[in-house]
Amino acid sequence: MVRRLLGLPSFSLGLLLLPLLLHGLEILDPGQVVYKETRTNGVVDKGVILECGTTLPDVYIWGFTRLGTDTIRAVVYNFGKGPKLQQLAKDLGDLNVISNSASLSIQKLPLAAEGLFTCQALYDTPEGARFHYYYVYLRVLVPVSKPYVLLSDTAPVEGASVWMRCGLENGTGPVNYIWEQESRSGLLTTLIETNHSLVNVTWVTRNHTGWLRCLARNEVNQQRSDRIWLDVIYGPDLPQIDVSPYSVTERGYSALEKETVSLMCQASSNPASQYVWFYNNSQVYTGPQLTITKILRMHTGNYACLAQNTYLNTRSKKSITLTVYYPPDGAPYCSILPANNYNDLALFCSWEGGYPAATLNWSPYTQGGNNQGTNNITWIQPGPETTNNSVFTCYGSHITSKVSQSCSTKTWLPYGEPQCSAYATRNNEYLMLSCSWEGGFPLALLWWASSSGDIQGTSEENSNILILRSSADYSGKAFVCHAKHPLIKESKTCVLKLEAPVLMTQRSVVSVYEGSDVQLTCILSKNYPAVAEITWFNNMKQRVDESDTPKKYILQQAAAWSNLTVRETDGSVDGGQYWCSATNAVGGAEIPILLVVMRNPMPPNVSISKIAYSSRRRTAVSVEWLIQTDGDITGFFIEQQNLQLPLWQKVVSGLESNTRSHLITGLDPFGKYAFRITAVNQRTIGYPSGIKSPALPGLNAVPAVIGAAIGGMLVAAIATILLFMYVVRNRNNMPRLHDLIFGRQNSQSRENINDPEDEFVGAAEGGEGGGGGGDIEEIPTPSPGPSIPRPSPTPTNLPPGDEPVNVTITVMASS
Ligand SMILES: *[C@@H]1O[C@H](CO)[C@@H](O)[C@H](O)[C@H]1NC(C)=O
Ligand SMILES: *[C@@H]1O[C@H](CO)[C@@H](O)[C@H](O)[C@H]1NC(C)=O
Ligand SMILES: *[C@@H]1O[C@H](CO)[C@@H](O)[C@H](O)[C@H]1NC(C)=O
Ligand SMILES: *[C@@H]1O[C@H](CO)[C@@H](O)[C@H](O)[C@H]1NC(C)=O
Ligand SMILES: *[C@@H]1O[C@H](CO)[C@@H](O)[C@H](O)[C@H]1NC(C)=O
Ligand SMILES: *[C@@H]1O[C@H](CO)[C@@H](O)[C@H](O)[C@H]1NC(C)=O
Ligand SMILES: *[C@@H]1O[C@H](CO)[C@@H](O)[C@H](O)[C@H]1NC(C)=O
Ligand SMILES: *[C@@H]1O[C@H](CO)[C@@H](O)[C@H](O)[C@H]1NC(C)=O
Ligand SMILES: *[C@@H]1O[C@H](CO)[C@@H](O)[C@H](O)[C@H]1NC(C)=O
Repeated sequence: MVRRLLGLPSFSLGLLLLPLLLHGLEILDPGQVVYKETRTNGVVDKGVILECGTTLPDVYIWGFTRLGTDTIRAVVYNFGKGPKLQQLAKDLGDLNVISNSASLSIQKLPLAAEGLFTCQALYDTPEGARFHYYYVYLRVLVPVSKPYVLLSDTAPVEGASVWMRCGLENGTGPVNYIWEQESRSGLLTTLIETNHSLVNVTWVTRNHTGWLRCLARNEVNQQRSDRIWLDVIYGPDLPQIDVSPYSVTERGYSALEKETVSLMCQASSNPASQYVWFYNNSQVYTGPQLTITKILRMHTGNYACLAQNTYLNTRSKKSITLTVYYPPDGAPYCSILPANNYNDLALFCSWEGGYPAATLNWSPYTQGGNNQGTNNITWIQPGPETTNNSVFTCYGSHITSKVSQSCSTKTWLPYGEPQCSAYATRNNEYLMLSCSWEGGFPLALLWWASSSGDIQGTSEENSNILILRSSADYSGKAFVCHAKHPLIKESKTCVLKLEAPVLMTQRSVVSVYEGSDVQLTCILSKNYPAVAEITWFNNMKQRVDESDTPKKYILQQAAAWSNLTVRETDGSVDGGQYWCSATNAVGGAEIPILLVVMRNPMPPNVSISKIAYSSRRRTAVSVEWLIQTDGDITGFFIEQQNLQLPLWQKVVSGLESNTRSHLITGLDPFGKYAFRITAVNQRTIGYPSGIKSPALPGLNAVPAVIGAAIGGMLVAAIATILLFMYVVRNRNNMPRLHDLIFGRQNSQSRENINDPEDEFVGAAEGGEGGGGGGDIEEIPTPSPGPSIPRPSPTPTNLPPGDEPVNVTITVMASS
C-alpha cells in the first residue's frame, strides 16, 4: 500500500524519498503529516529505548544524523517485510528493534550514538494514509570518574595563598565540586561548593589544616577523591605562661619561699614550639615547663619564655615578674624608748627582714590602724600614767605564715635614789663627779648642774660622770645631779659638796728622849673628794717613804688620821720640823710638827762598896758596888787598869741593871790592878765610879779600919736614900715635905713629862721655832719605870767623866 501510495518501484527509492518528503517536497495530502519531537538521555555503555509511536506503523524508517552534521542516514526500515538493519547500525551500539513496535533498543550505548534519531512512520488508516515524523534527540552522558586532588603546596605557611584542584578525567558537565575537610579529630566539614575544579584560597589559616578531599558530581553520579593532608605551618603565637601555685599581685606573680613553683609555657605553633626559659636575661632551661623546687628569695626576678618555630625560624617571647615572699627573721623585737624629753614612753616594735614587710600591732592600741607592711611601729604611751612593771605586747603577722608571733616588754622604774660621788684622777689633775641611777627600762637620763642651776656637761643614761679640771675654785661648791625617768613626773636629785682638806694635830710640838720611838699624829677633818693619803715630810723636807731602809719611819694611815712613828730617835739627826700634808682636787693643807729629841739624864753615880781577891792566888777579884742615887740604868760595865800600864780596859760589859756584884777572873797574880764601874742607860754613859784596887790578902787591918769609917757613912747614906724614897712615894700625903725637899717647880715639870698628852696644840696655827724651844726647857728629864727624883739634875750637855766624882771606897779583905 505504501508502494502504491508513493508509486515507488523499489523500497530503496522510497527510503530516499522519505526524507525528501519530510524536507518540504510536495506530498499528496500534506496536511496529514504529524511531527513529534522528544529528547532522551542515555548513559554511555548502558541501554536506552528510542520510541517511534505507540503502535506499530505499516511502514517506518529510522534515520540518524550525527551531531554537527546535516546528513541523515538510514539505520533500519521495515516496509512490511520485517525490519532491515543498515550498516550504520553497527556504529550505534548493540541496536535492535523491539518486536511489535517500531521502537529501538540500544544496549552498550557508545558516545557515537549521540545525535538526532528520526523515525518516519506511515499508517494506512481508513481515512487515508497518515505520515508521522518522530524526532528523538539522544544525549549520551558520561559519569564522573574518581577525582584526584592537586594542591599548590601541601605545607603552606599561614597567610599564604594556596590553590587546590579537583582533577577529573571523565564526566559530562556540568560538574559540581564539593571540598570536604576532615579535622584531626575526625570532624567532617564542607569547605566550599563550586562549579570550578580549581579553588584559590587567598589566605590559608591553621584552621585549614586537616584531611582534604573533593567530591565531584554530575547528573549521572558523584565520586570522592582520596584524602590528602594539608599541613599549614604557623606560629609560634605569643606564649602563654601559667604559674602554679597561682598567686597574682599588682606587681606580678608571687610565690612563698621554699615552695615548689612551676612555670608552664605554651605557644601555638606548627611544627610544635621549642621552648627556652630565661631568668633575668640568661638562659636557664630548655623545655616548656620550668620547675623550681624550694624556691628561694634570690630567685625573685624576671622569667621569660621564648618559643621558637624551628621550621619557620620564627620566635616569640613573653616574660613575667615573679616575686618570692619570705618571712622576717626570728621574732618581733620589742623595746621601750624614752620620748618627749623622758616624759613619755615610745613603745617600739620591729620585725625586719621579711618580704613584703610584716604587719605589726601594739596590743591593744594599734589594732586595725594603718600598720600594714611596716618593718617597725612606734606607739607613744604617756609616761607618768604608766605604772612600774606594766607589760606591753606587740603582735606581728606575715603573709608567709598563718601563725602570728609576738614579743613583750615591761616598764621598770629604777629603785631608790640616784647615787652621787666624787673622786679625782691620779695626781688630782681632774675631778670626776659620778652620778648613777642604774637599771630601769627605759634607762633614766642623768645630768649635772651647778648649785645655781647651770647644766654642766652632757646628759647621759644610766650614769653620768662629769669631768672637771681640778681647781680650788670648786672648794665649798655644790653640784646637783638630776635624774629623770619617764615613769615619774619630777626628776630626782642628789647633791655633792666639794671641800678642800683641813689638817689638825693633837700636839704641834712633841718631845722625846733619845733612843725611844715617837709617834706624830695628823688628823684630817673635812675633805671631799676624799684625800688619797696624808703624806709626811721629815725634818730634811724629804717625803717620808716607809720602804726606805733602815726602817726609820713607820706610817699608819686610816681614813681620818695618819701616824708617823720615828724609830729609835737620835738626838743629833731626828729633831726638827716635820710636816704632814694632804691634797685633794679642790685644795691642799699642811701643818708642821716639831719633834724635840732630848738626851737621857746621866745614870746615877756608882761606888764600889767591896773589892777583894777571892783567893790567895790572886787570879780573881770579887767586886760589889752601889748606886748612889736612883736613876735610869740599863746596865753596868767594869774597867780595869794594870798599874804598870795606865790604860783603862773594859773587862766586863753588859751587866744587868739589877746586878750589884761580879767576879772578875783571869788576872795575873803578880800584876797590880785598879778597877772602876760605870752605869749606863740607853745611849748615856754615867760617871765612872771611884777607882779601887783589891787589897792584898793579909793586910786585914787596913780594910777593917777603912771599912768601919765608911760603914758609918754608908749607914747615913742609906738612911737618907730610904727617907727620899719614902717621901717620893707618899708625896701626895706629904706634899709639904715633898715640896720642901724637891721644890715646887720641879714637881710640876715632872707631871708634864708623865702626862705629855695634856699639851694639845691646835692645828697649823702652832708656831715653829721659838714656841717649840720654849717648851723644851720646861720639860725635865723623864725616866721610864719608877720615877726617882734627883735633887739636882745633871746637865744634859755635860760629858760623862767631867763631873767631880764622889766615891766612897770600901776595901774589904776576904779570906
Ligand atoms: C574515560 O573514557 C575513556 C573513553 O571512553 C576511557 O577509555 C577511560 O577509561 C575513561 N576513564 C575513566 C577514569 O573512567
Ligand atoms: C553551577 O551550575 C549549576 C548548574 O549548571 C547552576 O545552577 C549553579 O548556579 C552554578 N553555580 C555557580 C556557583 O556557578
Ligand atoms: C589566587 O589568588 C591570589 C590572590 O588573589 C592570586 O595572586 C593568585 O594568582 C591566584 N592563583 C590562581 C591560581 O588563580
Ligand atoms: C580557627 O577557628 C576558630 C574556631 O572556629 C576561630 O576562632 C579562629 O579564629 C580560626 N582561626 C583562624 C586563624 O582563622
Ligand atoms: C634579677 O632581677 C631582679 C629584678 O631586677 C633582681 O631583684 C634580682 O636580684 C636579679 N637576680 C639576679 C640573680 O641577678
Ligand atoms: C622603721 O622603718 C622605717 C621604714 O619602714 C625605716 O626607715 C626606719 O629606719 C625603721 N626604724 C628603725 C629604728 O629601724
Ligand atoms: C619596779 O619594778 C622592778 C621589778 O619588779 C623593781 O625591781 C623595782 O624596784 C621597782 N621600782 C620601784 C621604784 O619600785
Ligand atoms: C695614832 O696616834 C693617835 C694619837 O697619838 C693614837 O690615838 C692612835 O691610837 C694612834 N694609832 C695607832 C694605830 O697607833
Ligand atoms: C757624881 O760624881 C761626879 C764626879 O765624881 C760629881 O761631880 C757629881 O756631883 C756626883 N753626883 C752626885 C749626885 O753625887
